[in-house]
Amino acid sequence: MPSTLSFPSYRDLDDATCEERILVAKRTLGSDLLILGHHYQREEVFRHADFSGDSLKLSRQAAASRARYIVFCGVHFMAEVADILSRPEQIAILPDLSAGCSMADMADLPRVEQVWRELASLLNPDEVVTPVTYINSAATLKAFCGRHGGIVCTSGNARAILEWAFSERKKVLFFPDQHLGRNTGFRMGIPLDEMVVWDPELPLGGLDEATIQRARILLWKGFCSVHQVFRAEHIDNFRARYPEAKVISHPECSFEVCQKSDAVGSTEYIIRTIQNSPPGSRWLVGTELNLVQRLHEQGIPQGKDIHFMSPEQCMCSTMYRIDPQHLLWCLENLVAGRVVNRIQVPHTIAEEARWSLRRMLEVSP
Ligand code: 13P
Ligand code: SF4
Repeated sequence: MPSTLSFPSYRDLDDATCEERILVAKRTLGSDLLILGHHYQREEVFRHADFSGDSLKLSRQAAASRARYIVFCGVHFMAEVADILSRPEQIAILPDLSAGCSMADMADLPRVEQVWRELASLLNPDEVVTPVTYINSAATLKAFCGRHGGIVCTSGNARAILEWAFSERKKVLFFPDQHLGRNTGFRMGIPLDEMVVWDPELPLGGLDEATIQRARILLWKGFCSVHQVFRAEHIDNFRARYPEAKVISHPECSFEVCQKSDAVGSTEYIIRTIQNSPPGSRWLVGTELNLVQRLHEQGIPQGKDIHFMSPEQCMCSTMYRIDPQHLLWCLENLVAGRVVNRIQVPHTIAEEARWSLRRMLEVSP
């Protein structure tokens, strides 16, 4: 077996050299290779993706792919989903193993199991509560949902998934992103006081029994630090300058930001909405910087004016860890017959996680 090419020799390569060699490696690997790229990837990496998309679209691509190697330019949970939904002989790779998701890290199996036990002191959770995990979570939490009759959701299907969850049981435990849960529940007509935040650091989530009994959605106290930077006053200031402009946000933004937005949806929805808007339109966009910059550049030929919502330039630092140097390193190892940075979910976890992911794909519009 040829020896692994080590990363340090790639670290100092300039982007132009990486670009040329990535193209050569892609040609050599041909149909054995599928590169998936999330919309938040930096341009130098994004342009090499065979398919781009939001988490839902990329999950479907991974499930449909026959490629031997699926290189995921995104974050860790996305590569886990690719591994779980692909065939056993396919190999999922994350070019930099440190590309995690800080929101996904806000919930873990021991604490979710602890919440389930605490709920069991008041009601029978397996009859009353559907656990719903945002796809931005570890495979162990997807497996937990699989075991307990629950489901996975993404920002692109959260409403359909919550409707399914309520058709099964009276209440939902939603983790880890409180904002996606609250914004979606409110659009379904659930009053704010029936969606309560469960703080996993406190006994019974910091709630009293009556509040838990009345609640329809228990929202895990998690959030995305990138989408937290967008604030309602950014929208007010923008509308004061450009009263005709439109505002669009990702549902990981706060309730106030989503309420003040004209449209709310996944990254794929944001792209489609702006691309379908008339030439000359002006938009304020509340999502990650790399995507907004791409939309800005794509809009210029049609006279579209696309603005980033926050005055601070804030990008997802973990998505940014996937750079051309790491991508090239993985690809040239594959050309040399070696796999580096494989993401392999242990069999028993993958099996249970697959139940909740497949349920999601069946229920998704
Ligand atoms: P999308 O599924 O909308 O692309 O969102 C993924 C994500 O991590 C947003 O922060
Ligand atoms: Fe996670 Fe937020 Fe980055 Fe999305 S933008 S991958 S939720 S940290």
